[in-house]
Amino acid sequence: MKKIAIITGATGGLGREFVKRICEDKEPDEIWAVGRNREKMTALVNIDERIVPVEADLAVNGTEILRQLLSENEPDVRMLINNAGTAYMGHFDKMDPSQVESICRLNCSVPSVLMSYALPYMHEGAKIINISSASSFQPNPYLAMYSASKVYLRNLSRAVGAELKSRKITVTCVCPGWIDTEMLPREYDGKRIHYPGMISAESVARKALRDSSRGRSMSVPGFFAKYFRIYSKITPTDIVMKQWMMIMKKHIS
Ligand SMILES: NC(=O)c1ccc[n+]([C@@H]2O[C@H](COP(=O)([O-])OP(=O)(O)OC[C@H]3O[C@@H](n4cnc5c(N)ncnc54)[C@H](OP(=O)(O)O)[C@@H]3O)[C@@H](O)[C@H]2O)c1
Repeated sequence: MKKIAIITGATGGLGREFVKRICEDKEPDEIWAVGRNREKMTALVNIDERIVPVEADLAVNGTEILRQLLSENEPDVRMLINNAGTAYMGHFDKMDPSQVESICRLNCSVPSVLMSYALPYMHEGAKIINISSASSFQPNPYLAMYSASKVYLRNLSRAVGAELKSRKITVTCVCPGWIDTEMLPREYDGKRIHYPGMISAESVARKALRDSSRGRSMSVPGFFAKYFRIYSKITPTDIVMKQWMMIMKKHIS
């Protein structure tokens, strides 16, 4: 039985780092790298011959492609990293309904469905890593859909992780603050946007894999996210949201 690792959003800033780190590991026979962008996929495949590109738009029929691949290959899934995600920064009432739908789908339905497709092929010692966000620690106006979707993923990860303990399968939920990737807009109104406590994708991926191998249910990289987690727990939500809105308003039209 082939031992495989599956990574969604493999062509993105954080996904690429996960792929590189997993390539340092001798265990997987294949690394299924899921992404949409063919050019970026081609560049990714050059990193290691074990990388199998899976071109799939997860917002359309991508999960079905993975379901079929699993059923045809019947692999031993050692790791599933639900990393693909999307965000919208701005007023909820200015969002197109299709954007609302697509955030629900990519950030919530897709990781849930992929866990349920992969679990029959997972055995003792297998790992699931779900990429949530520090945005899951409190409601974030102007990132409302995003922060709500990341709460969903965090609660799902923790609850399913508790259920899977008896099968000795670990679920780790990763909650980073700002990460230096293409997801973040760099300028607004001609001015550079400063992201406090921004950390590298490499450090997030390294810590997530370390926490997963230690069987941890949460991975919170960097001082900013750790501070935000505690601050949001002890401060009334209305106050946290008010402060957040004051910061965000500078960057929202
Ligand atoms: N950047 C941050 O500040 C930050 C902070 C906390 C958490 N996160 C989370 O980290 C994860 C990775 O984000 P990132 O920062 O690495 O962003 P990124 O560089 O924009 O990468 C996003 C990845 O998701 C893929 N993707 C988007 N829509 C897709 C779709 N419909 N079907 C298949 N793949 C799709 C993209 O593929 P294509 O290349 O084909 O577009 C890309 O590989 C996300 O879940 C994000 O929410 C990010």
